[in-house]
Amino acid sequence: MNEKATDPTNIPDNGDQFEALFTNATIGIIVTNQKGAIVNFNKHAESQFVYTKEEVIGSTVDILVPSHSHSHHHKLREDYYHHPGPRRMGEGRDLYGRRKNGTEFPVEVSLCTYRIHHEMFVIAFVIDITVRKKSESLVLEQKAELEKITAQIKKLNIELEQKVEYRTKMLRETLTELEKSKEELSASLEKEKELNELKSRFVTTASHEFRTPLSTILSSSFLLEKYNDLNEPAKREKHIHRIKNAVADMKSILEDFLSLGKLEEGLIRINVEQVNSDELFYEIQNIVSEMESLAKKGQHISFTHSGEDSIHIDPLLFKNIMINLISNAIKFSPENEVIEIDCKINTEKLEVSVKDKGIGISEEDQQHLFQRFFRAKNAVNIQGTGLGLHIVAKYLELMHGHIEIKSILNEGTVFTFTIPQQKSINKNEEDFSY
Ligand SMILES: Nc1ncnc2c1ncn2[C@@H]1O[C@H](COP(=O)(O)OP(=O)(O)OP(=O)(O)O)[C@@H](O)[C@H]1O
Ligand SMILES: [Mg+2]
Repeated sequence: MNEKATDPTNIPDNGDQFEALFTNATIGIIVTNQKGAIVNFNKHAESQFVYTKEEVIGSTVDILVPSHSHSHHHKLREDYYHHPGPRRMGEGRDLYGRRKNGTEFPVEVSLCTYRIHHEMFVIAFVIDITVRKKSESLVLEQKAELEKITAQIKKLNIELEQKVEYRTKMLRETLTELEKSKEELSASLEKEKELNELKSRFVTTASHEFRTPLSTILSSSFLLEKYNDLNEPAKREKHIHRIKNAVADMKSILEDFLSLGKLEEGLIRINVEQVNSDELFYEIQNIVSEMESLAKKGQHISFTHSGEDSIHIDPLLFKNIMINLISNAIKFSPENEVIEIDCKINTEKLEVSVKDKGIGISEEDQQHLFQRFFRAKNAVNIQGTGLGLHIVAKYLELMHGHIEIKSILNEGTVFTFTIPQQKSINKNEEDFSY
């Protein structure tokens, strides 16, 4: 234990102690009188302002303040004398001290007063805050730099997000397109497959259906040869008729197939024309006469019509529809029966019905009549490919028409089709393909 230090007899008197405190304080201490003249200046203040005590004693404190702050400093000093007390100086703003060589340095100053014999003295405690300021401004600089970098990162991030969004969008579009072309490809492959199936099915059906007319042609040709020698014109006539019918059958099978192929590939061209009632009835009468020559023994085709107007139709498609329906009526009804054709025309539509007293069609089979290759159960032993009605329905669709059926098994069948007046069809639309 240091006995000297604790021995109260060794402690210097108060004056010495305060002198030592004043001299050795690690803070600048400046004492001024009421006029602002420096009356004391400690060692640390000497090193801060690079003045010796002797140089500043008696001078106004202004020599330690930057000249640009003088007027402000005077005012503050005056205020302080009126309201003295301990306080920090320059609250909220930066304060600077001025060295002897004119350079400035940042300071923090606390003030307090004391009085001796009515005279007031002000003590200023001065701390050089150069290092703190430097580190503060360094922090500020770093903060600003950080903010700049953060802003750049944010910007980059936004750009990146936009790029990602754009790429994702592009990718999605590409995927959609890919999906679409995949679907298109598989749809066209499906169509191709369907067409191939259709063709091979037709070849099978046609080969089968060709057999009957071909053997008819063959046998009738043999017999023709024979009757030619025997000079029997009636029998020859009969066989020529049979050959003609057989050839017509084969021709119609081929025509059906060609029509179907074109329909499936969307190659049927529709040529709508304005046809007036007289022309139309005349055309139907011609078809009836043509078909009657192919009818069975004793079958008769009656034709009635009513109304007067003109209608927009494709005459070729119309003729084909009529031939299909009449040939069905002939084929599926017995000898000596009447087939009735009725045609009505008015401002709204054309309506044609083909009625026979033939084998009829069951209700169940009626549901599938217009499907390709469909043949009713009671028709399996009667020649046919099952394409006629499908083509009829497609042709009517092209002319915006439709077809209905009424049939009772073993009693007969009525097919009625209508084609609406298409006043809206103008010249430009008359020729288009589906
Ligand atoms: N008037 C009818 N009377 C009874 N059945 C009919 C009649 N018309 C059509 N059918 C039935 O509808 C089926 C389909 O008719 P569709 O005209 O399409 O074929 P098809 O006459 O058998 O052959 P194709 O016309 O191709 O030579 C026929 O097979 C038949 O069963
Ligand atoms: Mg038919």
